[in-house]
Amino acid sequence: MMNNGSNKLDPQQVVAEFKDIPPMPNVMVKALNVIKNPATGIAELGKIMQMDQAIATKTLMLVNSAFYGFRQQITSINKALVVLGMMKAKNIIMSLALKKMMTAQGSRELWEHSIKCAIAAEVLAKEYRVINPDDAFVIGFLHDIGKILLNTKNPLKYSKVRYLAQQSNVDLVEVEDAQFGTNHCILGALISKKWQLPVILTNCIRYHHDPVQSSLPTLCGVVYCADRLVQNIIPNPILNPKIMSKIEFTIQDPIALRETILAKANIFLKEMSGA
Ligand SMILES: [Fe+2]
Ligand SMILES: [Fe+2]
Repeated sequence: MMNNGSNKLDPQQVVAEFKDIPPMPNVMVKALNVIKNPATGIAELGKIMQMDQAIATKTLMLVNSAFYGFRQQITSINKALVVLGMMKAKNIIMSLALKKMMTAQGSRELWEHSIKCAIAAEVLAKEYRVINPDDAFVIGFLHDIGKILLNTKNPLKYSKVRYLAQQSNVDLVEVEDAQFGTNHCILGALISKKWQLPVILTNCIRYHHDPVQSSLPTLCGVVYCADRLVQNIIPNPILNPKIMSKIEFTIQDPIALRETILAKANIFLKEMSGA
């Protein structure tokens, strides 16, 4: 049964209770601003990346890894930017800029899951052509951002909630609603609004556990599928047939696709870890 919202707090109360939404990391704000101008963007992005040692180093490692498979050795950030393009470079900055926030409670679980989901969404977008793959990466990466607020509020309680949901095969959103009176989808949409991210992104974050409720079921469906395909414990069913009947693409062999995606994600994670 999907969450019907009956036991949620009044939205005003939720806003009051979770009012301490962290600001978007500075380097991400800068990166999002410069990519708005294609003429000067690439040079500006290079400067931003060079000012952050971790971002510069990890980007070079990633661009030289099997993840991209470029033939020649790339030794400078400027060259990396040329071969990657602005959107992919911006996505790498975002993945690293939010790492601290996502691992704040000492667990890498959320950050690693977000990377896996980003890569899965990108793969699905390329395969089914329902959204630009670079945009899909962003949506996949940010889909569970609301979890940081639950984690900050009560880390112990939240880890029990996650464990309970996993053990009982109940959707996490339902257990969060019961225990916190709200859930990471609602809170994620609040963060997305506060960070002034595009409305489509807010919508996909809000409905990624139940894309049928969204006005954009197929777009939200990309994130829904990406999220399910990369779970550590394969959900049963891996994709809900009722939901799949409402979205405009069909995944023939989800288990095989999961393996392909996880192999790709593991290369990305290996190059990005330690930052
Ligand atoms: Fe989620
Ligand atoms: Fe997720």
